[in-house]
Amino acid sequence: MNESIKVIIDTDPGVDDAIAILMALVWPRIAPNIELVGITTVGGNVALARATRNALALLEYAGRQDLPVAQGASRPLSGRYGYSHKFHGQTGLSRRLPRPTSRAINASAVEYLAHQLQRQPGQCHLIALGPLTNLSQLMAAHPHALSQSASIVVMGGAVEVPGNVTPHAEFNFYSDPVAANEVISSGIPLTLVDLSVCRQVFIGRDEVENLKSASPVGRLVVQILLNWFRKDPNRQLFEFYDPLALAVALRPGLIARRQLEVVVETSDLARLGRSKVVSNEGPVAVANDVDGEAFAVLLYDLFELTRR
Ligand code: RIB
Ligand code: CA
Repeated sequence: MNESIKVIIDTDPGVDDAIAILMALVWPRIAPNIELVGITTVGGNVALARATRNALALLEYAGRQDLPVAQGASRPLSGRYGYSHKFHGQTGLSRRLPRPTSRAINASAVEYLAHQLQRQPGQCHLIALGPLTNLSQLMAAHPHALSQSASIVVMGGAVEVPGNVTPHAEFNFYSDPVAANEVISSGIPLTLVDLSVCRQVFIGRDEVENLKSASPVGRLVVQILLNWFRKDPNRQLFEFYDPLALAVALRPGLIARRQLEVVVETSDLARLGRSKVVSNEGPVAVANDVDGEAFAVLLYDLFELTRR
């Protein structure tokens, strides 16, 4: 019997975050030993309150309002989040969900993560899909907590490729460059799923319009994607940023990686949030190739998708 694999997602839902959360919820369909045990929220794509409401609403939609959601940072270590309403919509989701009846737990994201990681050393996989403010604040308050995780996968950065917010910076790192640098250059081993591989896994408008699913969660994912495309006729591809990071955490063989030492620009305003490789040997496993076909098959399996 495979040992139980616990997953905690730190997230700013967010359309692609939502798909990643739903992947984790249905993953037991293909691997019963894998379970999402909790979510921590952070501002980023949308304000913290909205990110938290979206996380609660997604869990409730999937019948998992039993899972805890702990609220984290409403602003970065310095400055303010820029939000990404143009891409994610004003509510952060492209498909309206009923107002959740459940509420976030009283513990903060930092308290929840410290408790979970230190109570079950080596058992919880931590997947960070938003700005790294919560992880940075966890490091400050509980210096050994992060190293108690079974693994850490971060969606962020643009390593030696153009950014998606500025020519140099990816959104999560740009949203809180100080926190990103503290986590990425901390020396703690982690896997970085950056734009260079996320841009290789996408789905087109036509394919989405011909998708159907045998499951309610799969139908929600199809609706989320369909509505995202319908928001703007110029949208031709949806890139699976956060879903790929989630998949890599649970199926590491999806990517090839190189061990690098990476820092994040925090002072040069023209390059704020830029991911810089400072050495070809280091604790950061940067994804440098992805099996896009295997990812697509995984997505179809998880969400029971077929073509009309
Ligand atoms: O750059 C992509 C990342 O920024 C994703 O996590 C997306 O949700 C946005 O937060
Ligand atoms: Ca995100």
